[in-house]
Amino acid sequence: MRINSLRLQLLAWVVLPLAGLATINLWTSHGNALATADLVTDRMLVGSARAIAEQVAMVDGVLDATVPPAAIEMFDTGDRDSVYYRVETAGGRLLTGYPDLPKAPQHASVEAPYRDHRLRVQTLGHAVIGAGADSPITVTVGVTLAGHDAMVKRLWFSAFAQQLALVAIAGVFVLLGLRRGLAPLIRLRDAVRSPSRSDLDPVEVPGAQSEIRPLIDALNAYMDRVRAQMAAQRRFIANAAHQLRTPLALLSTQASYALRETIPDARQEALVALQASSGKLARLAEQLLTLSRAEPGSRRPRADRIDLTEAARQVLETHAPNAIARKIDLGLDENGPVPVVGDGTMLREMIVNLVDNALRYSQAGGSVTVRLAAIDGEAVLTVADDGPGIPVDERDHVFERFYRIAGSAEEGSGLGLAIVREVVENAGGRVTLRDGAAGGLTVEVRLPLA
Ligand SMILES: Nc1ncnc2c1ncn2[C@@H]1O[C@H](COP(=O)(O)OP(=O)(O)OP(=O)(O)O)[C@@H](O)[C@H]1O
Ligand SMILES: [Mg+2]
Repeated sequence: MRINSLRLQLLAWVVLPLAGLATINLWTSHGNALATADLVTDRMLVGSARAIAEQVAMVDGVLDATVPPAAIEMFDTGDRDSVYYRVETAGGRLLTGYPDLPKAPQHASVEAPYRDHRLRVQTLGHAVIGAGADSPITVTVGVTLAGHDAMVKRLWFSAFAQQLALVAIAGVFVLLGLRRGLAPLIRLRDAVRSPSRSDLDPVEVPGAQSEIRPLIDALNAYMDRVRAQMAAQRRFIANAAHQLRTPLALLSTQASYALRETIPDARQEALVALQASSGKLARLAEQLLTLSRAEPGSRRPRADRIDLTEAARQVLETHAPNAIARKIDLGLDENGPVPVVGDGTMLREMIVNLVDNALRYSQAGGSVTVRLAAIDGEAVLTVADDGPGIPVDERDHVFERFYRIAGSAEEGSGLGLAIVREVVENAGGRVTLRDGAAGGLTVEVRLPLA
């Protein structure tokens, strides 16, 4: 059975060992009680025997043993003990008492069965003046064990009660201590739960112990991160909505213009423009979707083994008509497969965005070259163009979402390079921008080789 309550766990850890110790203690205290009762009983037996012996005297030349009542009454402790005695001469002649009472060795007591009882027996030797060969006499006194056992019980019970009280008090203090100790945790729980907390602001728990502080700090740091992420998400949605609104408004204007137009040629022209706008809108939606898919945690991380060379070739094939239309020389420079591990769809999307940029931002008649190589255990993909390039102070910004360099005549949403960076970093690589050898921009992507 597993105990999930901290209270019960600590209680068990304190009270169970303590109860174990108390049990051992009870065992030893039973021994102590027994020894004490033995000692007391033996003293009484010796006292009784001495009292009897002292009354033995020569009366008219005959040994007379009169047992004084006090010697018997001293055992009358209310436990109904029976007392047996025997007085005999040195020669073994019985003077008075029970002839079959067992004897004990001198200065020691024995426990022996006698008439269905167990007796504790002591024997004492005593010289009687003028008794001749009959001296010394021996006096044996035996007593049943009821008083003795009652004394053991009494002594032991008080030890038992003390131990029990100790364990109970320890348990109560553990619970009280826990109540105090756990109070900051309960306050933390209430603070986190509190309906008045909506902004993920830091939790304050005054009086928290040094063990709980790190938990609170970690919680606050975590909420900080969540807050930052939520703010980024909000910004992204606002940006996306803003980006969608402009082309949608344009679309609507173009549609109403086409509806109003009666001249077929002009109407045709308006419809063509409308089609172009809706194409751009579709691309924007596409980019948004790709970016959301590229975000970590948005889809199951895939670890396909894909050949970057093959992926680049496919991308170039689909972009060839576009390059021909702009009279751009689009080339692939490779020497064999370059395998990497990652999400195939996303990696292809990354190449699409780089090639798209290179084609879009370089002038007609220019050239775009995609190079693939495996260098030092890394897959290196470069896309080089001979367009205007990107100024050094813009190079960090172009990776931001929706960031576009001011004054660009080309249409775009500013998401392409953000997608590239997200995909490359997810695959464990990095992307850098630098000046091309013949001007223009060279984008270099390095990924771990599979
Ligand atoms: N090869 C390039 N040559 C010159 N400038 C570039 C090149 N690639 C990107 N840029 C600049 O960087 C900016 C950001 O590029 P990015 O691909 O992120 O967005 P976009 O191309 O404007 O939009 P999208 O790719 O989402 O349609 C672009 O607006 C452009 O000004
Ligand atoms: Mg782009």
